[in-house]
Amino acid sequence: MADIIVFASGNGSNFEALLKQFSQTRHSIACLITNNPDARAITRAQKHNIPFHVVSWVNKTRGEAEARVNSILDTYTFDIIVLAGFMKILSPEFVNRYKHRIVNIHPSLLPKYPGTNSIEKSYKSNDKKLGITIHYVDSGVDTGPILKQYSFNRTGNETLSEIEQKIHTLEHTYYPEVILSILDKSNNDGGNT
Ligand code: GRF
Repeated sequence: MADIIVFASGNGSNFEALLKQFSQTRHSIACLITNNPDARAITRAQKHNIPFHVVSWVNKTRGEAEARVNSILDTYTFDIIVLAGFMKILSPEFVNRYKHRIVNIHPSLLPKYPGTNSIEKSYKSNDKKLGITIHYVDSGVDTGPILKQYSFNRTGNETLSEIEQKIHTLEHTYYPEVILSILDKSNNDGGNT
C-alpha cells in the first residue's frame, strides 16, 4: 500500500478521477495541497474526507511558501507528489528534495505547447494528433522525462470545447492508471509501502 499527495490549484477534475480510482485499490491519497483557498478541488477533498491544506503564495516568496509546504509534507508518509492542475512553478530546490517523486499531467503532446493555454494552442495548430503527456517534474516548465503520452486524431471539424472534452477524457482515464502503475511498480521493487 502506498500513498500519494495531490497538488491542485483549481477545478480538480483530475484529482476527482484519482480519488475515484484510488478508492478501488489498496493505495490512498494522503492529502490535497492547494495554493488557492477557492479551489473547487477543496470541495472534492471534503466530499471524500481527504485532509487538505491551503498554502497561499500571496505575500510570500516562493521559498517561504515552499518551506510551509515542506513542513506539511514532513507530517505525512507518501511515495509520490501528483500535480493535477497545480499552477505554481516549483523551485529547483523543491524538485530536488523530491527527486523522481513528482509527476505532472499536461494537456498537450510535449514538447509541443508547454506552459499555459496549451489546449487552445494545440487547437489552433495544424497538428493532426492532439493529446496529453504524463511526465516527471524537473526544474524546467513541462520539461521533465516523459512517462506516457496518449493521443487522438482530430477530424478537423471539432470545436475548441469538443477538443477540450476529448483531452480531459484522456486525462481522467489515464492519469490514475499511470500513477497506480508507478505505485505498484515501486511496491514490487521493495520501495516504500
Ligand atoms: C488539466 O488540463 C491538466 O492537464 C493541467 O491543468 C488542468 C487541470 O484541470 N495541468 P483540473 O483542475 O484537474 O480539472
